[in-house]
Amino acid sequence: MRRQIGASASKLPSTALSKGKEMAGSGISRIGVIGIGTMGSGIAQTAAQQGFDTVVVDISPESVERGMAGIRSSLDRMVGSFEKSGGERGISGEARDATLARLQAHTGLEMLTDRDIIIEAAVERLDIKEEIYARLVGLGYNRLLVSNTSSISITRLAAAYGVPENFMGMHFMNPVPIQPGVEIIRGLLTSDETHRRVVSLCHELGKTDIPAEDKAGFGVNRMWVPFVNEAVRVVEEGVMTPDEADRATQLCLAHKMGPLMTADFVGLDVVLFICNVLSEEFGSAYTASPLLKRLVEAGQLGAKSGAGFYLWEGGRSVGMNPAVLRYRTK
Ligand SMILES: NC(=O)c1ccc[n+]([C@@H]2O[C@H](COP(=O)([O-])OP(=O)(O)OC[C@H]3O[C@@H](n4cnc5c(N)ncnc54)[C@H](O)[C@@H]3O)[C@@H](O)[C@H]2O)c1
Repeated sequence: MRRQIGASASKLPSTALSKGKEMAGSGISRIGVIGIGTMGSGIAQTAAQQGFDTVVVDISPESVERGMAGIRSSLDRMVGSFEKSGGERGISGEARDATLARLQAHTGLEMLTDRDIIIEAAVERLDIKEEIYARLVGLGYNRLLVSNTSSISITRLAAAYGVPENFMGMHFMNPVPIQPGVEIIRGLLTSDETHRRVVSLCHELGKTDIPAEDKAGFGVNRMWVPFVNEAVRVVEEGVMTPDEADRATQLCLAHKMGPLMTADFVGLDVVLFICNVLSEEFGSAYTASPLLKRLVEAGQLGAKSGAGFYLWEGGRSVGMNPAVLRYRTK
C-alpha cells in the first residue's frame, strides 16, 4: 500500500468543489505516467511525493535523464525552502529521498502494464497519443487511462483507446507540484465509476478537482487562450508593449503574472495550437492573431526557445524581444 507522507498534502486545498460528497478512495496505489517533459515530470513528482508507487516512461534515455534531472532539482529546491523556512514550506530531505525511492523512470511502455492508472502526458499530437494507446492495448492494458491533453477531444481519445468507459481527461496545470487545480473532463462514454475514482485520485494527489465539459479548450483554456490572443493583438496594434500589457493586468486586474509572460512559459506553439482548436469548433472570433502565427513560424516559441514576447536566458526573462517591440509604432 502507498504511504501518505508528502509534506504538502495537508497544506493544499483538497476538496473545494466536491465538498459534501462522501467519496470512497480511488483504490489506486500504482501510477504510470507517459512523458517526462514539462507536465509529465511534474505529475510523476507529485504522485511519488504523495506516496504513490510511480513509474514514468519516455522515448529515449536522454529524455528520461533530462526529466529526472528536472525532478531532482525541483525536489532539491523544495528541501532548500524547507530548511530556509524552518519547516514552514517545502519538504524535508527525508521526504525528498522517500519520493525518489518511490519513482522509477524507463523507456518502454511495457513497464506500465501493472499500473492501476496511466496518466498520459506525451506531446500534444493526436497521432502520437493514438499510437501510444494502441500500443498499450497491444500490451494487454485495459484499466484506467487519463490524458493530460490541453485541447484534444476526450471522446475522440477515448475512442482511440477502445475502452471509453475507462478513459477521461485529467488536465493538470503548470507547474504541477505548485498549482492546485486539475480540470476533470468526462468523455461521452466515461463511466460513473471511472469518474468517481479519478476525482478521488485527484484529492489523494493533494489537488482540487474542477469539472469541465468535453468542448474545445474545456473551461480553463477556453477562457485563457482568447485572453492571450487579445493581448497579442494589443501588442500587434501598438496599443501597448508586452511589458506594458503584462503590467496592466498585474496592476489593474491583480493577476499574478501577465498573459504574455505566461504564454512565453507555456510555449507559443501550444497557445497557437489551442487557438486553432477553438476556432475550428467555435468560429472566427477565436482565430489566432497574425503576430502569434509569425512568432511560431520564426521558431520564437517563448522561454523554451530563448525568445517569444521576451528574451530568455536560463529560464529567466532578460528583456523584451526587439522583433516584437517594433510593433509599438507611434
Ligand atoms: N505545457 C503546459 O503548460 C501544459 C499544461 C497542461 C497540459 N499540457 C498538456 O500536457 C501534455 C504534455 O505537454 P508538455 O508541455 O509536458 O510537453 P513536453 O514536450 O514538455 O513533453 C512531452 C514529452 O512526451 C514525450 N513523448 C513523445 N512521444 C512519446 C511516446 N511515444 N512515448 C512516451 N513519451 C513520449 C517527449 O519525449 C517529451 O518528453 C500535452 O498533451 C499538453 O497539451 C501542457
